[in-house]
Amino acid sequence: MISAAQKAHVRTIHPFPARMAPSIVWDCLPNSDRPKRILDPMAGSGTTLVCARAKGHYAIGYETDPLAFLIARTWCSDIDRVRVNNRAVIVLERAKILADKLDYHEAYPKGADEETRHFINFWFDNENRRQLTALSTCINRISSEDERIFLWCAFSRLIITKSTGVSLARDVSHSRPHKVYQTAPIHPFDKFLKAVEHVINNSPFHQSNKSVGRNPFADIHMGDARYLPINSNSIDMIITSPPYLNAIDYLRGHKLSLVWMGYRIAMIRGIRSENIGSEISDHPQLENTILEAIKAMGKLSDLNNRQMGMLRRYAYDMNSVLKECARVIKKNGNAIFVVGDSALHGVFIKNSDGLINLAVNHGFSLVSRVVRPIAENKRYLPPPNLQQTGEQLQRRMREEVILKFISNGKVERKDFTKMNTK
Ligand SMILES: C[S@@+](CC[C@H](N)C(=O)[O-])C[C@H]1O[C@@H](n2cnc3c(N)ncnc32)[C@H](O)[C@@H]1O
Repeated sequence: MISAAQKAHVRTIHPFPARMAPSIVWDCLPNSDRPKRILDPMAGSGTTLVCARAKGHYAIGYETDPLAFLIARTWCSDIDRVRVNNRAVIVLERAKILADKLDYHEAYPKGADEETRHFINFWFDNENRRQLTALSTCINRISSEDERIFLWCAFSRLIITKSTGVSLARDVSHSRPHKVYQTAPIHPFDKFLKAVEHVINNSPFHQSNKSVGRNPFADIHMGDARYLPINSNSIDMIITSPPYLNAIDYLRGHKLSLVWMGYRIAMIRGIRSENIGSEISDHPQLENTILEAIKAMGKLSDLNNRQMGMLRRYAYDMNSVLKECARVIKKNGNAIFVVGDSALHGVFIKNSDGLINLAVNHGFSLVSRVVRPIAENKRYLPPPNLQQTGEQLQRRMREEVILKFISNGKVERKDFTKMNTK
């Protein structure tokens, strides 16, 4: 179990849908005097990485969603509280001056194209658009990256909220934004310093606090779990929670923040279409081992062509992830996958059974399979057409499965530099 002192390391700095329970990570991480190399190839907000660093290990993470990457990197960074706080005060002062000079028709992030402006007009009212343009411009001008990332996280907290934020939407933090307001309930200038205070208070690694972690180190990158630029046989342990098939479209909510950081809608669409678990239907040529894994995922005869295409694509992608995990992990290293089962148009999809199948094909042996309830506030909401489905299916979707594997080391271990990536 996670102690009170350990909990202090895992207070969140920014909302994130389907975050992994920190207690799972704490219980899996070794208590070693010699730091281990711990990898999360689909790091999300960085729970594995923060816990690993706090326990004195080397934390290595990859992530494709730019907002998740920002959160993970910031959460794992050393903060100079006074410097960040002072910078926030200056940014707010300058933003107020800049906002006074901005006309509404020019109040958009630099480089925003027509589609992005249209999106911004839909989700933000004129006054908040002006204040967010001014704040984002002033954050962008900060030369120190160490300070900038903390302030971007605080900025994003104003937007990614459940009910009352600076956009016209509710449920952005669940990645299910829907427009409910005519004018936003909060103005960015009124809450910016409060958001900064939250990020500062919940940041676990302080430049002045030498007591946190032994040999603390975190190395986090934008990158794809299917093509890891990591040397073979170099990772001691993997702890990760892959996306479930079609369960959460992370970028749907994150878009509202990312447009202010310079991302155009078309760029975000491109990232989304590449993400594992998104509702993209594809019919790649599949090896027999992947077809076997698909069979293990449920009674699929009720799925139509498009849904079958989504499942094929998911299995294909997860197979690539497992292949990479098998390559980079050391012999006898443990890989822990926390997976939830999901439902595709009324058909129950056993992601966990598919994953076991794929993992075994890549030289992993299953050590344990533990089922635990997902806390109510961490569950994803089933799509509307599933809300009346049977009690048994509803119950199973409230559970997650912790799969622990050990690597037998019997896989081809070409070094990544010699491989054809993407
Ligand atoms: C269930 S979430 C991880 C949550 C994380 N364990 C946490 O506690 O915040 C899955 C993550 O996988 C990321 N992802 C999807 N496709 C990916 C890919 N090809 N490579 C790396 N990450 C990917 C998603 O953006 C999402 O953040």
